[in-house]
Amino acid sequence: MSGERPRFLFFDGKIVPYADAKVHVLSTVFKYAAAIFEGIRAYHNEQTGQLYIFRLKEHLDRLQDSANIARIPLPYAADEIQDHLVRLIKKNELRQDVHIRISAYVSEDDGRLQSTGPIGLSMAAIPMGRYDALAPSEGLKVGVSAWRRLSDESMPPRVKSIANYQNSRLALLDALAAGFQDAILLDARGKVTEGPGYNIFIVRDGQVMTPPVTYGILEGVTRDTLIRLFSEAHGLTVMQREIDRTELYVADEVFFCGSGKEVTPIGSIDHRKVGTGGMGPLTEKIKETYFDVAKGKRQGYGGWLVPVY
Ligand SMILES: Cc1ncc(COP(=O)(O)O)c(C=O)c1O
Repeated sequence: MSGERPRFLFFDGKIVPYADAKVHVLSTVFKYAAAIFEGIRAYHNEQTGQLYIFRLKEHLDRLQDSANIARIPLPYAADEIQDHLVRLIKKNELRQDVHIRISAYVSEDDGRLQSTGPIGLSMAAIPMGRYDALAPSEGLKVGVSAWRRLSDESMPPRVKSIANYQNSRLALLDALAAGFQDAILLDARGKVTEGPGYNIFIVRDGQVMTPPVTYGILEGVTRDTLIRLFSEAHGLTVMQREIDRTELYVADEVFFCGSGKEVTPIGSIDHRKVGTGGMGPLTEKIKETYFDVAKGKRQGYGGWLVPVY
């Protein structure tokens, strides 16, 4: 995260200066975390000078799914959100890699738990370089969390709601306090789910695996992208199946993936080296393919990109 503040945000139906996007402390979102969101990336292609928003449609579809489950009806249709977002990026004159956050929240200031409106929708487009510029080359040092991932029976991880990130935060902060750089969460049965804000893949004996979407994970857009690219670009079918904790320890490669995390290798888990440590060969391959596609450098994937300019 660059920590840079954008000059303008989208808030209350308009593009406003950064300082003017405010929500009341007695609002239902502030009191009860009644909000859903999306985190998206746009990549700048130096050769064409174009900025491409990556798989915006799929992110907006997921936002709509979250809205339906959480009863936070979106105040705009997907094409209106896209138009406002493109205008916002242009207004901020962004011609570099960008992180986008779209939030929908119950802005009603009676602070009642059951309030379902009015709904506010805010958007931020912030300059943000690739995660690997910050990530350790030997891969992340990760610990399996003692906290368990929340579940579809109580707080559905399929919903990208801000409340769910308290579960992620407990795991991440404990991992950091224990000297790790990141965490992996298991479900109540002890099976692998995902990281605090990213999905997980493992490779063993050439077989790529990831937990199914019914195993306590967010249905990641990057996860879906990689499953498609493993098959279409590398001829490998990703197996979606339950993964034991100890399979993490015997895997040849393990990596996180997500819009923010992109494709990030894990170097050790619970102080056990993953494979030979560092970036494994399949992780490296899929990472390269991913960035080629996201930056508009690979034929056949134009449908995943929304050009801003
Ligand atoms: C809990 C969780 N899992 C997975 C992901 C990856 O999802 P995506 O690839 O759509 O960004 C995210 C990040 O958005 C997340 O917060």
